[in-house]
Amino acid sequence: MSRHLVTSALPYINGIKHLGNLVGSLLPADVYARLLRACGEEVLFICGTDEHGTPAEIAAHEAGTDVATYCAAMHERQAEVYRRLGIAFDHFGRTSSAQNRTLTQHFYRALDALGLVVEGEVRQFYSEADRRFLPDRYVVGTCPHCGYEVARGDQCERCSAVLDPQDLLLPRSALSGATDLEARPTRHLFFEVDKVSEEVERWIGAHCGQWSRLVSSTAHKWLREGLKPRCITRDLKWGVDVPRPGFEGKVFYVWFDAPVGYIGATREWSDLDPAGRDYRTWWFAAADVEYVQFMAKDNLPFHTIFFPAMILGAREPWTLPARIKGFHWLNYYRDKFSTSRRRGVFLDQALDLYPADYWRYALLSIAPESADAEFTWETFAAIVNKDLVGIIGNFVQRVLALSIRGFGPAVPSGGRPGAAEDRLAADARQTLKAYASEIRRLEFRGAIRALRQLWSLGNLYLDRRAPWALLHQDRQEAALVLRTAINLIRVFATASSPIIPFSAQRVLEALGVQGDDPALFRGEADLGRIGPGHPVSVPPLLFQRIPAEAIGLLRQAYGGTEADGCPADG
Ligand code: MF3
Ligand code: ZN
Repeated sequence: MSRHLVTSALPYINGIKHLGNLVGSLLPADVYARLLRACGEEVLFICGTDEHGTPAEIAAHEAGTDVATYCAAMHERQAEVYRRLGIAFDHFGRTSSAQNRTLTQHFYRALDALGLVVEGEVRQFYSEADRRFLPDRYVVGTCPHCGYEVARGDQCERCSAVLDPQDLLLPRSALSGATDLEARPTRHLFFEVDKVSEEVERWIGAHCGQWSRLVSSTAHKWLREGLKPRCITRDLKWGVDVPRPGFEGKVFYVWFDAPVGYIGATREWSDLDPAGRDYRTWWFAAADVEYVQFMAKDNLPFHTIFFPAMILGAREPWTLPARIKGFHWLNYYRDKFSTSRRRGVFLDQALDLYPADYWRYALLSIAPESADAEFTWETFAAIVNKDLVGIIGNFVQRVLALSIRGFGPAVPSGGRPGAAEDRLAADARQTLKAYASEIRRLEFRGAIRALRQLWSLGNLYLDRRAPWALLHQDRQEAALVLRTAINLIRVFATASSPIIPFSAQRVLEALGVQGDDPALFRGEADLGRIGPGHPVSVPPLLFQRIPAEAIGLLRQAYGGTEADGCPADG
């Protein structure tokens, strides 16, 4: 059996993330890790904040504090939000850690020793007004590929093209707006990615069969265009310093140290318990590790080409991902989420509005897996009302209330399972298997569909058996049906726990049972596990309807004025 290493793209430190970031990496990674753990497998789920580079400096500058203080505070705030969302990392680290610095410098030295790093002079914008060089995001301008007018110097947010500030049309300083930028020469280091083209191509060829079209086509597009040397240093103060004479006062480019941060964060984790853990057992010559990465599409070039090139170029047996799950964009009413335009929903706001499980379930239902998808309040309310309130919430409440009314606060005894129960068990087995396999295949919309189908078996069974009528006609049969339904609730809660962990836990508590049941995810739905006499209670209301009136208010508060959402129903 293999061990599972799972990483989610490291969120930038420059602010609380929005719903798109959650559904595009953190949440699916968490669901995958939770499912594997529930199946009894060994999992290490690693993430952290990506703290270097111009975004951090700019955000700190705007917040009026020094960058180290800013990052420390924002790291805690992000960690807290993810905790509230139930993202169960084994470790949430920081790319600014000492561990990551050591590892980043190690990769640099390994590549340098093999002749893959060269010095070169580049012309970089210098701004008199700002009295400094302006790398990456310190310059904004018009994207030469798509015409987006506020493209950043490192990457166009609209078309995902990776840029150099010099590529921008009408460049200006992001700090002062100054347009009188002067291109001055400065010395930098280049990683000759082109020299590892063959290795990268071979590695991609060996793995892309397991990747989605999005991931594979992104990788091949880059290969086709030909890999080029990439500048890996910057004229910044905040970052991993470059251990090379003549490069004092410069740091590595953020994309050079950020992916190393996966390893760095794992080393932070193992340094917390050096006797019991060793990051190398996951990352170095770890043949039995299956590594899966999660990210949004703009990160794909770095994970399919650039980071593998660092590892392959270093000629050391660092763990490379077997599978890479890439997501398209989640938009907010047909347009991007935007901080500056105050459009959309940030994760702390989201949690102040509705509990984590509402978001987890609803966002995965609309995950942008095969194309960009759209978040609207109308869709959100419809999903919550139909599935969470209408199917699972209703089933749990109805069964437990009815059983307790008819038989008191314990699992009723009497009756023998018959054809209806056999059929229910067979359907549940099949649906559970499909559900677990969708998650293992990293198909999250499919997983939600299967879960909804599983839940629906409960209401189907109740409708077929009508225990409310049986209570008056045949109490033995009523007891059997309610006992079976209570057991079904346990199956539902256990199965649902990777997706809606908080609600699942509350249900299991009301049933007075533990959630661990690895066999369940292989389809073994034991509908007699909770026997007669076992005390049960009705859990506090699991999910609350979102009324139609709320939607207009939410749209007003968070933007989204076009009247193009689908109407709330259910
Ligand atoms: N911070 C980047 C982003 O938010 C992702 C970094 S992923 C890593 O797009 F590989 F660098 F860690
Ligand atoms: Zn563009």
